[in-house]
Amino acid sequence: KRSGKTVNFNLKLGVSQTQFFKGVNTATLGINQSYLGPVLRAKRGDKVRITVENQIGVGSTLHWHGMMLPASMDGGPHQEIKNGESWVSEYEIKQEASTLWYHSHQMHQTGAQVYYGLAGLFILDDDDSHQLGLPHEYGVDDIPCTIQDRRFKRDGNLSYIDSMHDRMMGMEGNTILVNGVVTPVLKAQRSLLRLRLHNGSNARTYQLAFSDERSFQVIASDGGFLAAPVTVKSLRLAVGERIEVLVDVSDRKVVQLQSQQSSGGGMMRMMSGGSEPFTVMTIDAKQVKESAHTIPKTLRAMKAIPDPKDAIKTRQFDLQMGMGMMGGGFRINGKSMDISRIDFEVKRNSTEIWEVRNDSPMAHPFHVHNVQFHILDRNGKKPTQIESGLKDTVLVQRGEVVRIIMTFPEYSDSKIPYMYHCHILEHEDQGMMGQFVVV
Ligand code: C2O
Ligand code: CU
Ligand code: CU
Repeated sequence: KRSGKTVNFNLKLGVSQTQFFKGVNTATLGINQSYLGPVLRAKRGDKVRITVENQIGVGSTLHWHGMMLPASMDGGPHQEIKNGESWVSEYEIKQEASTLWYHSHQMHQTGAQVYYGLAGLFILDDDDSHQLGLPHEYGVDDIPCTIQDRRFKRDGNLSYIDSMHDRMMGMEGNTILVNGVVTPVLKAQRSLLRLRLHNGSNARTYQLAFSDERSFQVIASDGGFLAAPVTVKSLRLAVGERIEVLVDVSDRKVVQLQSQQSSGGGMMRMMSGGSEPFTVMTIDAKQVKESAHTIPKTLRAMKAIPDPKDAIKTRQFDLQMGMGMMGGGFRINGKSMDISRIDFEVKRNSTEIWEVRNDSPMAHPFHVHNVQFHILDRNGKKPTQIESGLKDTVLVQRGEVVRIIMTFPEYSDSKIPYMYHCHILEHEDQGMMGQFVVV
């Protein structure tokens, strides 16, 4: 199945200035540009060779979130690139069309480095993904949307972690950016849009819906297409997750994509009760041309869910946070991340069930490297249609036990681990992370 093609990328992490507001400079980090990085694209069967040069003044990494790949190429905390040095990550794309992403995974600095700009999208295609009848003209009717919230100081610079609350609940901002743009307006060009919604925030969960409550179709989750479009009026997007949707804008209106204020089950927000939705972005459809595409009835057969009977192991993960002055820190199964400790081994090509439990006061998006998993159930209940596709990140609400099942790829390395962690980056940085090797 190899295409025999090698796709080369050169990425340079640098210190920069960005004008989010006209005439005001904000200190940022960027990848080949002043804030965020380019959208990378490759196809199943391609080999990618990515050279990452670090010029930000301190150590950094780039991790390929959602990718199945050898541990040494993963770009986690074990592949630190010292300032002034380069690292080459080379691997074959062995998975289906999907919207993945990449970001810094520097030990204890992931939150800050992503916040200032070290992240980007990585779009995968495969042989028949263009034959599904979906919009696929990049930037015309196939639009990447990296949603982030940031907090700006009076002088225009970003502020990162101002309080114990930020540290405990994760860093949430009061200004929304889509693809690095404040108050984003998408001038729609076609009457049917495909939006690749990506939550690239540090901590915020979005509950997305349109201002006129129009329905739209979900076509893909983190790791690939659903079997058929699912019609919804709103959806939840936790940190790290991607959901592709089709939106019919043939009515030529101006409509807002909005998010509800209280969403992820953050304790403080739950106590403050409901509040007005805020705008994520505006879609101005006044100038659209008729799309050549319609909403398909079906997409394609999904990768089968592994049979739970084939799981050779069930593991438990308890997500824990010590609250208040007593501290206690961020842990999984009583342990804080230790880069020199391997938490367990899994066997390559084997199937496992992971039971992720959350008895802490807030929701945590749980992410596993090197796999696309399926959700078996949430507190014993089958996942929704949207959540029945391939996933690499799953929001575990307080009081929930989420069971996921996955078959690990064939890559093995007894020394270099992969990570699993909460994707609220402040929680990850403070220790809600562990590591496993595949042997
Ligand atoms: Cu998106 Cu371990 O990362
Ligand atoms: Cu990852
Ligand atoms: Cu968390």
